[in-house]
Amino acid sequence: MDVIGIEKAVASRLGCSGGLAGGGWRTLVLLVVAIVTSAAALFASFSSSSGRVSLWFSVPFPALSSYGDVGSNSSTSWPTPPLSHVPPPLARPLLPLGPSSSPVAAAPPSPSPTASFVASKVLLHTFLRGLNTPPSPAHSPPPDTGGPATPSPTEPVNNTINEAVTINPPSSTSEISNAAEVKVPTSLRETDLQLIQAKREIADAPMISNDSVLYPPLFLNFSVFKRSYELMETILKVYVYQDGNRPLCHTPVLGGIYASEGWFMKLMQENQQFVVKDPEKAHLFYLPYSSLQLRTHLYVPDSHSLQPISIFLRDYVNSISAKYPFWNRTKGADHFLVACHDWAPYTTKLHNELRENTIKAVCNADASEGIFVPGRDVSLAETHIRTPKRPDSDIGGRPASERSILAFFAGQMHGRVRPILVGQWGGRDEDMRIYEALPADIARKMSYAEHMRSSKYCVCPMGYEVNSPRIVEAIHYECVPVIIADNFVLPFQEVLDWSAFSVVVAEKDIPRLKEILLGIGEERYMTMQMNVKRLQKHFVWHGRPRKYDLFHMILHSIWYNRLTQIPVQ
Ligand SMILES: *[C@@H]1O[C@H](CO)[C@@H](O)[C@H](O)[C@H]1NC(C)=O
Ligand SMILES: *[C@@H]1O[C@H](CO)[C@@H](O)[C@H](O)[C@H]1NC(C)=O
Ligand SMILES: *[C@@H]1O[C@H](CO)[C@@H](O)[C@H](O)[C@H]1NC(C)=O
Ligand SMILES: *[C@@H]1O[C@H](CO)[C@@H](O)[C@H](O)[C@H]1NC(C)=O
Ligand SMILES: *[C@@H]1O[C@H](CO)[C@@H](O)[C@H](O)[C@H]1NC(C)=O
Repeated sequence: MDVIGIEKAVASRLGCSGGLAGGGWRTLVLLVVAIVTSAAALFASFSSSSGRVSLWFSVPFPALSSYGDVGSNSSTSWPTPPLSHVPPPLARPLLPLGPSSSPVAAAPPSPSPTASFVASKVLLHTFLRGLNTPPSPAHSPPPDTGGPATPSPTEPVNNTINEAVTINPPSSTSEISNAAEVKVPTSLRETDLQLIQAKREIADAPMISNDSVLYPPLFLNFSVFKRSYELMETILKVYVYQDGNRPLCHTPVLGGIYASEGWFMKLMQENQQFVVKDPEKAHLFYLPYSSLQLRTHLYVPDSHSLQPISIFLRDYVNSISAKYPFWNRTKGADHFLVACHDWAPYTTKLHNELRENTIKAVCNADASEGIFVPGRDVSLAETHIRTPKRPDSDIGGRPASERSILAFFAGQMHGRVRPILVGQWGGRDEDMRIYEALPADIARKMSYAEHMRSSKYCVCPMGYEVNSPRIVEAIHYECVPVIIADNFVLPFQEVLDWSAFSVVVAEKDIPRLKEILLGIGEERYMTMQMNVKRLQKHFVWHGRPRKYDLFHMILHSIWYNRLTQIPVQ
């Protein structure tokens, strides 16, 4: 429900929505709404223990919103998850705005009449918003495995079992219990002000159209990315919880197809630039667990149940929120996790605040399931690391002129898309090298990797889940990725312009795949292929992180989305 929706709801509660027409009546209704909402604001401020006015803002910031597909228009324009009762992310109170005792410059201006009117509408929204725990779609999510030389798939799990236990149930959906939510923090901390300031500066980013290191056409809005990245480097501080036992926490796995979470964990835990020991200085809080370790150590083979993993995460977060004041300040909205196993999103479901507020950097970035929310969560690039000692090895491919194969795919028949792809194109067409598994006689002459180095387009269909390590593989081999995975939120789509270096094909268009690829002119192909090479550095792990590499891009998207989520007036 948006602000207009609330007006309607209030109007209908007052019994004057039906049968009324004409400007006079409309003004009267708006007046009544204004009085009611202002009264609600007054009630909240007086009932706050400190006596300070504490208004919650939830207004998207126009300048940042105007770019990209993140946060555009209003909260109503967010991709709608299938669960219509999941509240839109921007309509959630995250940060209080109000007179601050903190002696920091650039404090927000005191609320104007309009601002407090908007604020009181938002407040009313909070009053009206139910706290129902949405049921989740029932389906079984086994993990994707990457190229042909990948670990064997795990059995499908019974994801519905998660719903059998509902912890953190809403105590009540009454307006009073929601009013309590309004009161939590009462003043802005210095770190909040720094974020607000950063958000303003990004919105006012100076126009830049060239750069000696970065290639601007790869970005949706290069000026914004550049400014945001610079501010991240100068401002951002992250606190890494030391809580949690090994190997479930603090123990990265650096090889295989889930290695992205491991590399991020390793590099974050070693990091000196962003990590702070004093959590009071932190803008973001990292939950350093490994979704792969949870799967290895807590999943009961053949049980088809995610419950032990979900219970672990629920208890982990509850212990952190009981022991420290940080979680409760934002109800987890400034906390983040980085998890690449396919099950990672589903295993957050037993803790409402973890599920609904925390920034989730996950490989399984499926916008259709009601868990991953674009703009809040981060699509974590899945990387298949074969040599953990040198994660940046085996990069490069043939120049465009030496790529003789039009399109290539070989892999296991996981999920809904691949059987259709192979059924349509397998063994039919010399230009379309689409295989279920690379036949031994062909593999002997030309390896999987050599196929990717020698093809114009590398087809990256979803597996059991939307994500696939092939996309980054294609980028490393300088092959233009062709992504077939409806609802997949592409990595770093907050900042990158994927149309500059990839082709996204709808699942229904698989029969037209060749026609679509042939329809891309030679010149455009050459540009895309050059762009893939220029993009490479953003998708590579290094033993020691380098500027703009994959580690920094992931951290940047988490930082950027946190800024997107905080309200600024
Ligand atoms: C914003 O969203 C509303 C409702 O979805 C729509 O009617 C309106 O055209 C959108 N405005 C813009 C500028 O996209
Ligand atoms: C999954 O688990 C639930 C609850 O235990 C059960 O009712 C349901 O039949 C199971 N579904 C499958 C497909 O096994
Ligand atoms: C990029 O963002 C800046 C700052 O919000 C804005 O002024 C500029 O118009 C945007 N540029 C493009 C090309 O959208
Ligand atoms: C960017 O372009 C301007 C003018 O076109 C030029 O003066 C400047 O040196 C260029 N900067 C870089 C980093 O290439
Ligand atoms: C945070 O909130 C939870 C649930 O409301 C509560 O159990 C916990 O004690 C709180 N933590 C702190 C540090 O006050």
